[in-house]
Amino acid sequence: MTATAPAALTTEQIGFLARAVSRAPSVHNSQPWQLRVRGTEVDLAVRHGVELRRHDPFGRDRLLSCGAALTDLELAVRALGRDCHVEYRDDEDVVATVTIGRSRPASDRDFALYHAIPRRRSHRRAFFHSRVPDGVRSAVAAAGEAGGVHVVEPGHLDKLAELLGFATRVLRDDHGYQRELELWTAHTHGWNAVGDGIPEDGLSLEALPVAGLVRRDTPVPDDVVLAGRLAAESLLIVCTDTETRADDLAAGMALQRVWLTATAKALVGSVITQPLHLAGFRARLASELALTGVPQAIFRYGYPAVPAAPAPRLPLGELFPDGPAGGLR
Ligand SMILES: Cc1cc2nc3c(=O)[nH]c(=O)nc-3n(C[C@H](O)[C@H](O)[C@H](O)COP(=O)(O)O)c2cc1C
Repeated sequence: MTATAPAALTTEQIGFLARAVSRAPSVHNSQPWQLRVRGTEVDLAVRHGVELRRHDPFGRDRLLSCGAALTDLELAVRALGRDCHVEYRDDEDVVATVTIGRSRPASDRDFALYHAIPRRRSHRRAFFHSRVPDGVRSAVAAAGEAGGVHVVEPGHLDKLAELLGFATRVLRDDHGYQRELELWTAHTHGWNAVGDGIPEDGLSLEALPVAGLVRRDTPVPDDVVLAGRLAAESLLIVCTDTETRADDLAAGMALQRVWLTATAKALVGSVITQPLHLAGFRARLASELALTGVPQAIFRYGYPAVPAAPAPRLPLGELFPDGPAGGLR
């Protein structure tokens, strides 16, 4: 008897996967991804034309964003009740191919993370003053551990405050950088907006200056005040052993697993990569905080004090460069 081949995806199933991908976090909400579907194979490709020359000159955050989208894609395939295999592609265009296999019930954990996808959002505000219990913090960090990726709670908060304070001052006075950021924060408003970019009301000055993306008018507290604010939050740093395109993608996948795990546990958070693009910053961060490997992203999280609005998304049809994929909107 010959085994039957896994069934090709239906239009409804493609829509289900696309919705999960589109809800992934991305640098400046640029949503730098596209999907190409061939039967039971889905390519996740980079969407060109949304380069951030000042914030992300080497495209590292773009790959991290694609990694986050890949985690959502994998969870959505599993939530459909199908097995899947993810293969990294060393290609300027397609970053990974997900091959969808036979029926296989999703685990409780995959379901919980899948259901956290629409609830996760960037929460850049101050958190509720209640410490996250040790066991919960360990589970959130462990969710990101993978081959070549480590997720660590930073010590030496005085050094971290010094470095973040320095980065804030540099970024605040960088006119080219600020012009680019204005372009990405000017045009999205309201809860039901469609498009890309960061809504003005998603930014906040009340927590860490770097938590709300540093702008021209961001106040910089002194290092002691900043160290105190860092100590009031739960922090994680995602590091990779080396730095290749595959590492950047793996870091983004890990970041999203961490974020979804936190969301599933009623926590909220936001990611900080902005200072990590300054020349020499990551090397200093690694040496002063005694980190092993290359720091890729800082994740701050805690319990919410106020709700945060969702950021807009592009219409689903924009995910499919080769056609409207069954009329998805
Ligand atoms: C790789 C990456 C880097 C990011 N860097 C920052 C950052 O430095 N500061 C910040 O406030 N948000 C940062 N974000 C969050 C995005 O701005 C956010 O995901 C996007 O605006 C969509 O909003 P949402 O997370 O609420 O869905 C980053 C996200 C990703 C995936």
